[in-house]
Amino acid sequence: MTSGSISSKEEGQQPSKPPFVKGLAGIVAVQTEISSVDGPRSTLIYRGINMHELAERASYEDVVFLLLYGHLPNEQELANFNARLVANRWIPAQIVDLFRAMPPDTVPMVALRTAISALSFYDPEVEDLSIAATERKAIRLVAQLPTLIAAYQRIRSQQEPIHPDQHLSHAANVLYMLNGQVPDDDFVLALNAYFVLLADHGMNASTFTARVVASTNADLHSSITAAMAALKGNLHGGANEATMRMLLEIGDITRVDEYIDAAFAEKRKIMGFGHRIYKHNDPRATHLNFWAEKLGRKVNMPQYYEMSLRVETSILRLREIYPNVDFYSASMLYYLGVPIDLFTPMFACSRIAGWSAHVIEQYKDATLIRPQSEYVGPTDQHFVSLALRH
Ligand code: COA
Repeated sequence: MTSGSISSKEEGQQPSKPPFVKGLAGIVAVQTEISSVDGPRSTLIYRGINMHELAERASYEDVVFLLLYGHLPNEQELANFNARLVANRWIPAQIVDLFRAMPPDTVPMVALRTAISALSFYDPEVEDLSIAATERKAIRLVAQLPTLIAAYQRIRSQQEPIHPDQHLSHAANVLYMLNGQVPDDDFVLALNAYFVLLADHGMNASTFTARVVASTNADLHSSITAAMAALKGNLHGGANEATMRMLLEIGDITRVDEYIDAAFAEKRKIMGFGHRIYKHNDPRATHLNFWAEKLGRKVNMPQYYEMSLRVETSILRLREIYPNVDFYSASMLYYLGVPIDLFTPMFACSRIAGWSAHVIEQYKDATLIRPQSEYVGPTDQHFVSLALRH
């Protein structure tokens, strides 16, 4: 206790309470060197590099290395890192059996959250919290999540899982394991850009969750399991699925205005719009818009992209709210042939790199994250014997 706090107690003063901030909006809870989200300027940087440069030029493998180690890999580092990712793509047979044992209608984010947790049974370093071991576990989990997603999808569709292909890039291999076909180059470029764009994003809800868990000295698998749980909701990662369902429900471009008018009249939120930090343009949306348009033409289904453009202008008639990262990723993932309920798992496939980097940074910071609450309930109640309770 400091001498200052003794003197204020002696004088009978209450220490001043920090103000309550709903939803922690605007509170800076963590200092990070991993990514920066600047709402007013609509910019996102990873380790000092503007996301626009990365979206156009980097591979997801480059970005995972960048987030974990703080710099872009040179040629040799990238080759070694890639080899480690490829070598860790396999998952234990027991996890495949676990998927087979799940009820057939298990929601994929639930199946995958459970599988990440269960992977810890088989990870030899699960309780080793050293930075070196956590980096090794991060590489394993980044490599394993696509295999988990594809295996779960195949099993619930009564198909045998497909082994990862060691000759394919991270993005190409995901599509290959889902469909059994080596994907078209544009599909791979689009999914790679998606993975690059979503890999980290400041103190979003799932990353904060991962850091809170890590701050208690829990292991990486626990932190990532918790982050998966936080990503599931439709105010966060679940918004991409909800967006696609909305586009399908609208059904036709001629019905967009009517749908938006009704949603605003009923005070329903439009999924894929609005953001806690970006109040104008979400810089990631521009790239996803580009890929959605390109793939829509390629697969000859431009209507969902065109409907998306119309939703954007239709909303702007009524209120200044802009598309976020989830809006154009919905039609883009749909064009890639990804089932709608796997959209959020695909988001996780990318964000797992950022979550892991944040867990490592949190271990280095070594501070328990533990805010306060403001009690607003009654203070004049008393214990009542069971027989006397109504
Ligand atoms: N559709 C309609 N109105 C919206 C909206 C949306 N998608 N997003 C925000 N608004 C409105 C709110 O109703 C609120 O209106 P009010 O001032 O009249 O009460 C105002 O804009 C501010 O929104 P608020 O929800 O307080 O902002 P926030 O920072 O707490 O929330 C989100 C941000 C992301 C939770 C919110 O925009 C949202 O729910 N979006 C839809 C879900 C989504 O796409 N999530 C993915 C985020 S990447």
